[in-house]
Amino acid sequence: MIVETRDLTRCYQLGSSRITAVNEANLQIAEGSIVSIVGPSGSGKTTLLNLIGLNDEPTSGEVYFKERKTSTISDKERREIRLRDIGFIFQTFNLLPTLTALENVELPMALLGTPQRTQRIQAIECLGSVGLAERLEHKPRELSNGEMQRVAIARALANNPTLILADEPTGELDSETGREIIELLLRLSTEKATTVIVATHDERVAEVSKAKLAIRDGEIKT
Ligand SMILES: Nc1ncnc2c1ncn2[C@@H]1O[C@H](COP(=O)(O)OP(=O)(O)OP(=O)(O)O)[C@@H](O)[C@H]1O
Ligand SMILES: [Mg+2]
Repeated sequence: MIVETRDLTRCYQLGSSRITAVNEANLQIAEGSIVSIVGPSGSGKTTLLNLIGLNDEPTSGEVYFKERKTSTISDKERREIRLRDIGFIFQTFNLLPTLTALENVELPMALLGTPQRTQRIQAIECLGSVGLAERLEHKPRELSNGEMQRVAIARALANNPTLILADEPTGELDSETGREIIELLLRLSTEKATTVIVATHDERVAEVSKAKLAIRDGEIKT
């Protein structure tokens, strides 16, 4: 298993109200699979992806990454895993506004110490694969929402991750571009054995998935 969760729970405390955004989730995700997580707005999809992607820490329970318990590893190692192994496509993109599309995609490679020339070649290739070869020098504010989403996808691919966590990756795309992105994710899974976990409302994504998890009020129903 590339990812396993045991009784994974995340509560948010806001004043006197307590929200259980993920409630005792037990998941087993096999290497190379495509898994979709579907559920209504507010059901806990983003919270779950953030926990699996080691961007957040559970209130209780555990995430295992490649059979390793992640609660006890050092911050340095968590960061290393996030950079090297995990490509995160954020629902709100999280692009750096002062950097161009090319520089945004180069950044995770720079953080790993990849030689500059390799960064450039790889970034151009990743942006090409999402149809943005003509937008390399654009800053996020000079891009459409769908183009920003595609830069975020290219950035997630930059370090050749073993796991891609995609939060509504086709949410801002027209149906044709969305279809191309789905095909790209599918290709990564079949050709490179990349594991893809995708939170989505897009039925087409759910259709190509090997497993579909439904989430409602933080509870997973398989
Ligand atoms: N930082 C936070 N503090 C307090 N409550 C939060 C926080 N983040 C999320 N929540 C709450 O947790 C629940 C789950 O939120 P989450 O963002 O995981 O839902 P989602 O399934 O991704 O929704 P959407 O489809 O709209 O993106 C929601 O009720 C939300 O209001
Ligand atoms: Mg969300």
